Amino acid sequence: MAFPAHRLRRLRRTPTLRRLVAETRLSVDDLVAPLFVREGIDQPNPIASLPGVVQHTRESLRKEAARLVDLGVPALILFGVPATKDAQGSGAWDPDGIVQLALRDLRDEVGDQLVVLADLCLDEYTDHGHCGLVRADGSVDNDATVELYAKVAVAQADAGADVCAPSGMMDGQVAAIRAALDDSGHTDTVVLAYAAKYASALYGPFRDAVDVTIAGGGDRKAYQQDYRNRREALDEVLLDIAEGADMVMVKPALAYLDVIADVRAAVDVPVAAYHVSGEYAMVKAAAERGWIDGDAVALEHITAVKRAGADVILTYFAAELAEVL
Ligand code: PBG
Repeated sequence: MAFPAHRLRRLRRTPTLRRLVAETRLSVDDLVAPLFVREGIDQPNPIASLPGVVQHTRESLRKEAARLVDLGVPALILFGVPATKDAQGSGAWDPDGIVQLALRDLRDEVGDQLVVLADLCLDEYTDHGHCGLVRADGSVDNDATVELYAKVAVAQADAGADVCAPSGMMDGQVAAIRAALDDSGHTDTVVLAYAAKYASALYGPFRDAVDVTIAGGGDRKAYQQDYRNRREALDEVLLDIAEGADMVMVKPALAYLDVIADVRAAVDVPVAAYHVSGEYAMVKAAAERGWIDGDAVALEHITAVKRAGADVILTYFAAELAEVL
């Protein structure tokens, strides 16, 4: 027999031995649950393309947050779906807008038992579905949008968000948000930058969840990253950290494990990865057909995201995984 016989298989013999030598340990502590709250509904509204995920009422959101506490999930990220949208997305910074009301509810319900993140963007609130202000020629106005993001950050922090998570991919958004938070006395509010966020076809189910259609069949390629680019992600990440980001995110996750690994190697701040709606929906759909074991694939996928280097993982599987981890 060739030497060294059984060298690699020896450590795989029993479940306990494998547990002892496992390099990656996924924990409930790593997870953030994305939740949606919708204005003007009196029953939670299922999202067909995201099985098991709903648009919450303010009341059902409170219950879900309490359940996450019981499950040991440390954090949630909140997205709002307003009843009416306008060109500016004014619902995003309205102190009585759905997200601000829900953030106050959450603070009241769970106190500091959950870290409450607020997604900071305009697309859920604009009637054209873009992440910023649209000029007459159809392009998104970077600097005018960033001014609005600063207002949104202050409104979210006033309402009790622990973390503002800007996802709009405007240049300079982190610096503007940090300055606005500091100037309004919110020096402790954390900024988690969606730093390397790619223009991805995997956000489809999310857009159903927040009732967003981009006007004229448009896309976000003029502000989100091109998926052909890897080095550019580090440029984005390093700039966001220089602007004051406390944590940085790569999004989506599975098709970008190389980017997650690069970012992990390059920075010392916590690295988050967002396992997005399309990644979740693909697993659910194949599992529904009996083509894969959905629970096993979910565990494998989310563990892989951690193995690549993510410290924090945003995933619609958070509550399900919390039950098995
Ligand atoms: C923008 C935002 C999006 C997602 C999170 N924040 C959508 C987009 O950029 O079009 C997608 C999340 C997912 O697909 O799960 N506010």
